[in-house]
Amino acid sequence: MAMCRFAGSVAVQCLFVVFTSMAAAGVSRHPVVVVMSFDGFRPDYIRPDVTPHMARFRDASASPPYMRSAFPTKTFVNHFTMATGMYSETHGVFDNSMFDRHNETMHYTYEQFHYDDSVVPIWIQNENNGEGRHSGVMMWPGSEFPYQGKTPTYIGLYNNSIHWNSRIDTIMTWIENKNQPANLVFAYFEEPDKTGHKKGVGSQEIKNQIVRVDNTVKYVVDQIKYKNLEDKINLIILSDHGMDTVTYDRLIFLDDYVSNMTYKSVIAGPNAFILPNMGKFDEVFTNLSSGANTSKTFYVFQKYELPDRWHMKNNPRLDGIIYLLAKPSYAFWNSFFQKILDDTTKEMFRAGTHGYDNDEPVMRALFMVSGPMFKKNFTAQPFDNVDLYPLISHLLALDETANYARPVNGTIAGVEQLLLLPKSSNTGTSSSLPSPHILAGMIATFIEALKKF
Ligand SMILES: *[C@@H]1O[C@H](CO)[C@@H](O)[C@H](O)[C@H]1NC(C)=O
Ligand SMILES: *[C@@H]1O[C@H](CO)[C@@H](O)[C@H](O)[C@H]1NC(C)=O
Ligand SMILES: *[C@@H]1O[C@H](CO)[C@@H](O)[C@H](O)[C@H]1NC(C)=O
Ligand SMILES: *[C@@H]1O[C@H](CO)[C@@H](O)[C@H](O)[C@H]1NC(C)=O
Ligand SMILES: *[C@@H]1O[C@H](CO)[C@@H](O)[C@H](O)[C@H]1NC(C)=O
Ligand SMILES: *[C@@H]1O[C@H](CO)[C@@H](O)[C@H](O)[C@H]1NC(C)=O
Ligand SMILES: *[C@@H]1O[C@H](CO)[C@@H](O)[C@H](O)[C@H]1NC(C)=O
Ligand SMILES: [Zn+2]
Repeated sequence: MAMCRFAGSVAVQCLFVVFTSMAAAGVSRHPVVVVMSFDGFRPDYIRPDVTPHMARFRDASASPPYMRSAFPTKTFVNHFTMATGMYSETHGVFDNSMFDRHNETMHYTYEQFHYDDSVVPIWIQNENNGEGRHSGVMMWPGSEFPYQGKTPTYIGLYNNSIHWNSRIDTIMTWIENKNQPANLVFAYFEEPDKTGHKKGVGSQEIKNQIVRVDNTVKYVVDQIKYKNLEDKINLIILSDHGMDTVTYDRLIFLDDYVSNMTYKSVIAGPNAFILPNMGKFDEVFTNLSSGANTSKTFYVFQKYELPDRWHMKNNPRLDGIIYLLAKPSYAFWNSFFQKILDDTTKEMFRAGTHGYDNDEPVMRALFMVSGPMFKKNFTAQPFDNVDLYPLISHLLALDETANYARPVNGTIAGVEQLLLLPKSSNTGTSSSLPSPHILAGMIATFIEALKKF
């Protein structure tokens, strides 16, 4: 058994085994990691008066002031980057909607998430590593598709009518399943993004959703306490990107610069894929460039001009594309904004959006973690969300390249600071073991228990 490898002393081994069977029947013998993503939750939404439970959680956890999102700062891009440890140019998901191989728009399709079959989400890699490892994925973007023909042991299909507490109850049944206990769980929550898009960052409606997130964090923390799993579960609470507010006067109309008969497009907020018709590339590009130059509201890129730091350009899925990015608080007009305008006036128009440069402060994401393998009350340096994969992989002692997967782009270097035991101090087997102070606590509890006999 893995748990028998950690100590030289037979006595300590036995204590630990007995204690484990008393305290946590039906829970994985591997470390347990739970990742909860609240879509579009900005780190600066946490305020002691509005989100007291999250504020307390953050104070007790290891947490950077923010986590850097991947570019484009969109939902599918970032959830897939976190799940795969790959940049968008490697996993091929460049937005929620994008062109498919027939130059038609695709939105949440198998093809979209399968640019390269050697890019595998960590919930599959966890199970590939065997020894009783099981994954559960609740509504995480991309989780409904098989990868290399495999799906995780537990899947919750996207359905935003399912109450958030009920999602958490389901997750706890996965973790406590007697026969196949999950040691890795990913869970997705669609707010405050959804309301943020409709009402903007400063609205009362988004504040209500932020409070709802806070109550949900309280609920999961209470469940973990109640089930006595505080020393077992490493709970990561994060988001995918931030949010910015757009007013009507900051909407960009591409028809002002180029005839809409000369290209096809996929446009979402500040990001646009423009596919010029055959023979029209140069003219469309020139007109958009001059529009960008005169309006100063957006940037225009041919594929080869995309900045290296976005890790976006080296992918054939962008062949023939002109990529547009709006400047902060600007966005390209599309039908979503028209729907908002239908219900209000140009003066009162407020919409939320994201997708901007991942260097923009308002696009920053949330990250905080609490659990036996992490430092407490620790303010970390910011890191990239591509590093989440190596972090989890380390916690679960995975071989990342099992089953022909390729080495990931993320590294442990940026996230090692969060760990109670730095990776370099490990012997290689200790990562699946409790930390010394937890172990001391377990032994003390066990001795207390013995005294009762
Ligand atoms: C899609 O558009 C690109 C760029 O214009 C072109 O090279 C390719 O042939 C098109 N593919 C299809 C299936 O039309
Ligand atoms: C979504 O969940 C609701 C509430 O549990 C349920 O009534 C509904 O049937 C579900 N929808 C789908 C498509 O499963
Ligand atoms: C580009 O702009 C010029 C000048 O406004 C216009 O005449 C031309 O039709 C535009 N080209 C396209 C492809 O829209
Ligand atoms: C295309 O441009 C024309 C002329 O500017 C405009 O009337 C029309 O609504 C546009 N079509 C779409 C689909 O945006
Ligand atoms: C836009 O500005 C850039 C940089 O100043 C310049 O290189 C380019 O020629 C301009 N494009 C047009 C169409 O005016
Ligand atoms: C966290 O640490 C700071 C100093 O680094 C201290 O002031 C604060 O009281 C601590 N908070 C908790 C909850 O331990
Ligand atoms: C990201 O990882 C892939 C797969 O291992 C590799 O091909 C690619 O070169 C990496 N990208 C960078 C920027 O290192
Ligand atoms: Zn999102």
